[in-house]
Amino acid sequence: MAFTYFFRDLVTLHAVRDYVIPELRSHRYINVWDAGCAMGAEAYSLAIIFKENLSSYAFKRLKIYATDLDEESHDFGRIIREGVYPEKAVKRIPGDIFRKYFLPDGKPGHFKIADEIMRCVSFQKHDLRSLEPMRDGFGLVVCKNVLLHLKPSERVDVIRMFHKCLKAGGFFATEQTQKMPSETGRLFKRVAPNVQLFQKK
Ligand SMILES: C[S@@+](CC[C@H](N)C(=O)[O-])C[C@H]1O[C@@H](n2cnc3c(N)ncnc32)[C@H](O)[C@@H]1O
Repeated sequence: MAFTYFFRDLVTLHAVRDYVIPELRSHRYINVWDAGCAMGAEAYSLAIIFKENLSSYAFKRLKIYATDLDEESHDFGRIIREGVYPEKAVKRIPGDIFRKYFLPDGKPGHFKIADEIMRCVSFQKHDLRSLEPMRDGFGLVVCKNVLLHLKPSERVDVIRMFHKCLKAGGFFATEQTQKMPSETGRLFKRVAPNVQLFQKK
């Protein structure tokens, strides 16, 4: 199972705070797709960033679709639905955020994420190679440390699918080391030089 941890990529989370949330906060629905979410730390980190930067009224309109491969050996869905994580997954969370959104769980060395954060994240099994979008009208698609597992042509097809399911002006974020393929570059504009965050043209 791919081990991931909360607040793994602060630069991208800060870019979501600074560029994405200000544009999405007035939207009637705020739909986010975290594609290749592994155990859910990334999806819940995103939910916390939105919670910290939205009014409680706007936060109620946030829905995060967290998806990953349908593999028997993975237990992503159960972990995400329980929202209980070991200390090594939560130790990089800034202290004030950690105290606000995590409580010790009955299981020693484990912490449970607050219900208000869990409520806006739903998990579904999904293979990006299907090229079937979860839905349309996303304000943000995050797909980090996943595209490197695909062949270059599959990567292009998946990014085209992301572009199609974003609403006008919606955002796509990937990891720092993942460059936008030339085939899909004209579909997006880069939002900031230090982060792989793109806006649908
Ligand atoms: C290294 S983890 C990245 C987790 C998280 N996005 C992060 O950056 O912390 C890669 C994840 O991509 C998922 N993955 C790989 N190929 C995929 C595909 N075709 N469709 C959906 N998920 C895929 C794996 O199952 C794994 O959970």
